[in-house]
Amino acid sequence: MLRVPLCTLLLLSAPLLLGAAHGFHNVSRRTFELDYNQDRFLKDGLPFRYISGSIHYFRIPRFYWEDRLLKMKMAGLNAIQMYVPWNFHEPQPGQYEFSGDRDVEYFIHLAHKLGLLVILRPGPYICAEWDMGGLPAWLLEKESIVLRSSDPDYLAAVDKWLTVLLPKMKPLLYQNGGPIITVQVENEYGSYFACDYDYLRFLAHRFRYHLGNDVLLFTTDGANENFLRCGTLQGLYATVDFGAVKNITQAFLIQRKFEPKGPLINSEFYTGWLDHWGEPHYTVKTEIVAASLYDLLARGASVNLYMFIGGTNFAYWNGANIPYAAQPTSYDYDAPLSEAGDLTEKYFALRNVIQKFKDVPKGPIPPSTPKFAYGKVALRKFKTVAEALDVLCPNGPVRSRYPLTFIQVKQYFGYVLYRTTLPQECNGSMPIFSSPFNGVRDRAYVAVDGVPQGILERNRVISLDIQGKAGAVLDILVENMGRVNYGRGINDFKGLISNMTLNFSILTNWTIFPLDTEAAVRTHLGAWEARDEGHHDGRLTFGSSNFTLPTFYVGNFSIPSGIPDLPQDTFIQFPGWTKGQVWINGFNLGRYWPARGPQVTLFVPRHILTTSAPNNITVLELERSPCSDGTSELCTVEFVDRPIIGRSLAISGPFPDRSGQDWWLNPL
Ligand SMILES: *[C@@H]1O[C@H](CO)[C@@H](O)[C@H](O)[C@H]1NC(C)=O
Ligand SMILES: *[C@@H]1O[C@H](CO)[C@@H](O)[C@H](O)[C@H]1NC(C)=O
Ligand SMILES: *[C@@H]1O[C@H](CO)[C@@H](O)[C@H](O)[C@H]1NC(C)=O
Ligand SMILES: *[C@@H]1O[C@H](CO)[C@@H](O)[C@H](O)[C@H]1NC(C)=O
Ligand SMILES: *[C@@H]1O[C@H](CO)[C@@H](O)[C@H](O)[C@H]1NC(C)=O
Ligand SMILES: *[C@@H]1O[C@H](CO)[C@@H](O)[C@H](O)[C@H]1NC(C)=O
Ligand SMILES: *[C@@H]1O[C@H](CO)[C@@H](O)[C@H](O)[C@H]1NC(C)=O
Ligand SMILES: *[C@@H]1O[C@H](CO)[C@@H](O)[C@H](O)[C@H]1NC(C)=O
Ligand SMILES: *[C@@H]1O[C@H](CO)[C@@H](O)[C@H](O)[C@H]1NC(C)=O
Repeated sequence: MLRVPLCTLLLLSAPLLLGAAHGFHNVSRRTFELDYNQDRFLKDGLPFRYISGSIHYFRIPRFYWEDRLLKMKMAGLNAIQMYVPWNFHEPQPGQYEFSGDRDVEYFIHLAHKLGLLVILRPGPYICAEWDMGGLPAWLLEKESIVLRSSDPDYLAAVDKWLTVLLPKMKPLLYQNGGPIITVQVENEYGSYFACDYDYLRFLAHRFRYHLGNDVLLFTTDGANENFLRCGTLQGLYATVDFGAVKNITQAFLIQRKFEPKGPLINSEFYTGWLDHWGEPHYTVKTEIVAASLYDLLARGASVNLYMFIGGTNFAYWNGANIPYAAQPTSYDYDAPLSEAGDLTEKYFALRNVIQKFKDVPKGPIPPSTPKFAYGKVALRKFKTVAEALDVLCPNGPVRSRYPLTFIQVKQYFGYVLYRTTLPQECNGSMPIFSSPFNGVRDRAYVAVDGVPQGILERNRVISLDIQGKAGAVLDILVENMGRVNYGRGINDFKGLISNMTLNFSILTNWTIFPLDTEAAVRTHLGAWEARDEGHHDGRLTFGSSNFTLPTFYVGNFSIPSGIPDLPQDTFIQFPGWTKGQVWINGFNLGRYWPARGPQVTLFVPRHILTTSAPNNITVLELERSPCSDGTSELCTVEFVDRPIIGRSLAISGPFPDRSGQDWWLNPL
């Protein structure tokens, strides 16, 4: 770690520490400044512009951080741009996590070691297609909180977090011997409704307080005057973001309106685009990205390519947009490096463009990692969620007359089971309603007396006919599919957020089971206990619906011996399965949903696999597996050696709207 925080210390040690490694012309002082006269940056007093790429350490296992950074370096980039997601580091109020895959300081240290500068975007809001835009869900414990504003409770939590994070970043600033050249305040704040300058002023003040007066602070907004009006502040250098455009001068007119002098900066030049379940996988043609990058660089602009590598939304970390559409597990983004870190045609094309403007490092580019098809693995039905409640909810349920949200039962991710009894007989034409609209967040798997009834889904299905006797047990398993990360909808409460009704009367007397799926999977869902009780017969009832009960399936596979260099990365697919969650050796790989798509395979990084014991697979299938009908005891998943992210659609602009506002500018 870099531990040279003081300028006075640097004056003595800089030639030794830094001069040799970086070949600075003026080693007496490390500076990074705006040159308003010449519309550029000055780094150590010399003209500078960055050609940067976005990488999210939180979407890449630590095991692969160096490999990905080195590939970025070899593409000719001189900087990386990175967010810090608050909710990844403070999962519970006051409980901080900065080790392993969350060791942000180590990640920055690696970038520094490879000679890459860092553009830091510490939020506190980051968007990023990440759960709640990086804000911790526990902020919603104050139900009326106005996020991203001067709401005093929000500011108090932000202040506490910045007091933890920013002092860790301070020694990593360029002025202090580290790689961080600039720091972004908030993120596209101008496209949020609040337009609260006091909030921006508060942040600017806290950033200055913790990081000092020398660091260059900036803002980023969509290249639209309305956005910059609410997103910019005196003392924060205003930059813009936009994808491939015909006329770069035109695109920068908005930045020029707010910053008449100084470097032109596109902070998010889109190399691809984000996906949602149920839509095609979006791509942007290499030629279009390459041509526009050429124009940007020829114009003398500093640019950050968003994304240079997208990575993976492991576990439950994906975000969503409104009208509710969750992002899939893959964040491939059609970026120059694929989700799995592989070199693409786009990588080489963009490297060729960069090469026209600066030297790119000589020497071999690290190759794409080898992939291995481990083949089919048989899984067996193990337990339904209802059968595993003792291990999934060891502390027991919460009782409440009316439904409680996830936040109210202090569960932030995954699944909660809501249980009550039917007050009257229902003969199959008696719907339960989630009311008002969108009371189910986000998807509910409904059963009566262990007989599956069907599904309720936010924005899509709000009523369901059910069948059962008076007094029958009604189970509603609710899945949080990811919190909205953009726009007004970020106060995204999960669970049953309104009353359920049956024949217009409110269902009451709920027993609510918060499910600790992660801990249960780590203890093999209490496998030892199951052996004592005798083996589950594996048959599942359909009822009149076409669904089965949410069920865990388990299996294992060994890495073949006699083949060198195993284990290798792989991809898992779910032929005939519908929707669920998958873990390998307790590592939560994310959601699969081939029935809706576009994503078909999930990336499995090799560091979670072992050759020393069988690798355990746990699948929670929420709807229907290929062996659900009981004709077969075994279901199979399959490991293949290439990804299938799904049917794709090349965008040539305008980009699909994510906000209901036309933020896109002048597309090709
Ligand atoms: C080194 O940088 C300092 C501060 O920017 C400047 O005052 C000084 O003139 C520079 N020295 C040389 C040799 O360029
Ligand atoms: C690009 O836009 C600028 C500013 O609007 C304009 O002056 C220029 O003519 C445009 N160039 C082309 C090739 O259209
Ligand atoms: C259920 O009961 C309602 C009202 O008693 C009746 O109209 C309807 O036909 C019944 N449906 C079935 C499927 O039995
Ligand atoms: C359910 O209805 C009751 C009675 O009208 C009301 O007090 C309660 O706030 C409602 N709960 C939710 C979650 O809407
Ligand atoms: C629905 O409720 C009304 C009164 O609230 C009652 O008259 C009716 O019989 C109920 N319908 C069924 C099918 O139970
Ligand atoms: C409420 O639920 C509990 C547990 O399921 C049950 O024992 C009790 O009888 C129910 N009370 C009412 C009023 O339905
Ligand atoms: C039930 O679902 C399966 C798999 O999605 C589908 O192939 C089948 O046609 C469905 N059957 C009915 C009756 O909807
Ligand atoms: C591993 O899978 C095999 C079948 O492939 C099964 O016989 C064995 O019990 C499994 N082991 C564990 C620990 O689940
Ligand atoms: C898989 O589960 C079995 C049985 O619980 C255990 O012995 C084995 O160590 C597990 N494998 C791994 C890689 O954790």
